[in-house]
Amino acid sequence: MLHETISLSDIKSAYRRIRHEIVKTPCPESIPLSEITGSTVFCKLDNLQRTGSFKERGARNALLRLNQRHRKKGVVAASAGNHALGLAYHGGLLGIPVTVVMPEGAPLIKITTCKRLGAHVVIQGKDFNEANNEAEKIALSGPTYIHGFENSDVIAGQGTIGLEILSQVNSLDAIVCPVGGGGLIAGLSLAVKSINPKIKIIAVESIFTGQLTAAFKANKPILVPRRQTLADGLATLKLGKLPFEIMKSRIDQIIKVDEKWISLAILRMLELEKIVVEGAAAVPLAALMSGQISGLKGKRVALVVCGGNIDPQTLSRVIEKGLAHDGRITQFTATIKDKPGGLSELCTVIASCGANINQISHDRVFSGPNISEAKVLCTVETRDHAHGLVLKRLLTRSHFL
Ligand SMILES: Cc1ncc(COP(=O)(O)O)c(C=O)c1O
Repeated sequence: MLHETISLSDIKSAYRRIRHEIVKTPCPESIPLSEITGSTVFCKLDNLQRTGSFKERGARNALLRLNQRHRKKGVVAASAGNHALGLAYHGGLLGIPVTVVMPEGAPLIKITTCKRLGAHVVIQGKDFNEANNEAEKIALSGPTYIHGFENSDVIAGQGTIGLEILSQVNSLDAIVCPVGGGGLIAGLSLAVKSINPKIKIIAVESIFTGQLTAAFKANKPILVPRRQTLADGLATLKLGKLPFEIMKSRIDQIIKVDEKWISLAILRMLELEKIVVEGAAAVPLAALMSGQISGLKGKRVALVVCGGNIDPQTLSRVIEKGLAHDGRITQFTATIKDKPGGLSELCTVIASCGANINQISHDRVFSGPNISEAKVLCTVETRDHAHGLVLKRLLTRSHFL
């Protein structure tokens, strides 16, 4: 049994240590998100840190705690990406050499930015655990190993986000926070519950990660299967022992969200808040929008928006899938007469109800035995599901469907 090794005063000391080189990110109220969720929503925008995530807090605190001899030898870490970025950036500022090991599937944006920041990047292993094994091996040759969550200095650094939220929003009822290895929620819940135990801490994970639920069930961190998720920052496969000991008496509710809600939350942050977030940072909004959190209607709720490092390609797929979910892109296969003007008749009907053709694929060969007909696969932009239905009724009446 591990004993807690950090306290509120460690988090306050960490804050004094790091605050001049960490952005005090804003935590504004979001009117549109409040409207769609029924809570008064505040977004703690740590995606606005210089490397795009809260991980700088823990990374800088851990680096500053090293003595001169260890600073010279450098540090090594395994990371899904953001811890690596935090170390690379602050290692650069402090003149400490940094080596990071990232798993093969790590987002390109995180790999290339780490290299740009001057870190030595090793891509090794199929998941965080395998990358971690490699980082431990490298540490045997001299550099100090800085774990992304199983490290009390890192946890104390992450806890500073809790201090900031409390200084920025008064009369808060709840904070909704993502969980990967648990360093963030351990530090945050320790800070917040020590100052105001009435504030509820809601922990959120993806159904494709699941190490938090697994740890609470087994009453200890256990390894969960590796699965691909949009919330790549949460895919640590196992909770840290130290974070688990700290968080277990401080979490009020655990929520699991699926990929559909994560991608919709990314889209809503983008269109309503004009903020780019990565999957891991979208899970608090996903949890709130999915209606799974009990008792927060009309309450003052802060969402920990902890990172914005998402590959543009992923973002573009998320946007398109989200538009389809909202009925703003509709697809159907129409049957037209295979004669001059057949396609133009279809286009006229689509245009008559104000839908805009996005893509069209005209197939005369594989469309069935009737040689007087052709099939057309159409993707069109519509206003919403109701508009899509109006279009489909019109097409049916005109014998295209
Ligand atoms: C954006 C983002 N959110 C949340 C987390 C989870 O943090 P922790 O592993 O401390 O639970 C991570 C971890 O990398 C992350 O990058």
